[in-house]
Amino acid sequence: MKKSKKHKKSNTWKIKQHRDQFFKKSKTLGYRSRAAFKLIELNNKFRFIKKNTNLLDIGSYPGGWSQVSSKIITSGKVLSVDLQKIDEIEKVSFLQCDFLEEKSKEKITNFFGTRLDVILSDMAADTTGNKSLDCIRTNQLCAEVIEFSSKCLKPNGILVSKLFMGEDFLQVKELARSKFKKVQFFKPEASRNESKETYVHCAILNTL
Ligand SMILES: C[S@@+](CC[C@H](N)C(=O)[O-])C[C@H]1O[C@@H](n2cnc3c(N)ncnc32)[C@H](O)[C@@H]1O
Repeated sequence: MKKSKKHKKSNTWKIKQHRDQFFKKSKTLGYRSRAAFKLIELNNKFRFIKKNTNLLDIGSYPGGWSQVSSKIITSGKVLSVDLQKIDEIEKVSFLQCDFLEEKSKEKITNFFGTRLDVILSDMAADTTGNKSLDCIRTNQLCAEVIEFSSKCLKPNGILVSKLFMGEDFLQVKELARSKFKKVQFFKPEASRNESKETYVHCAILNTL
């Protein structure tokens, strides 16, 4: 019997995943996702997670970034947010919600009760099969996080967010530049070469 296109595609994904060094490493070290290594690389480069950081991790499922953050943070609060429920992580609070809803943003700000040190977003919109549309939808999530961060971060706070090098990349970059003094881009080695994914690191709010 002929295998369906979808079946073949998911098998290719599984084979790629098993050959992948970061996937293997995540299993060995007990991380829930290979994405954990992207945050490790980002933090090695920019050094934004400290022992006393109050940190928000948006789009956190299955929890790799929250695991990495909670290993470093000893006296700050960590809030992890996703549409999907994650399994518990010690020292990490979790909110299952749609970040785009106003009531979610209210719950987040109430949880911290003060401006935050670090906001991370690895949010990605569900894929539609149309790569250009997928880029736009994920970059829209990044734009939402930039707007939110400009209101909720401490003046010297840091935002790190996923975005795609798609057709609206420059618009999102301009938005980031309008809110932050320092805007840099970095693609970790753990981010697949064939992916248009990159990360923006934003520092020092323009209000300073
Ligand atoms: C690439 S995964 C995150 C991986 C995670 N950083 C890790 O280390 O395991 C992207 C996540 O973004 C979440 N997401 C997408 N849109 C969202 C939204 N509007 N609100 C909350 N989470 C969202 C998805 O549910 C998905 O779990």
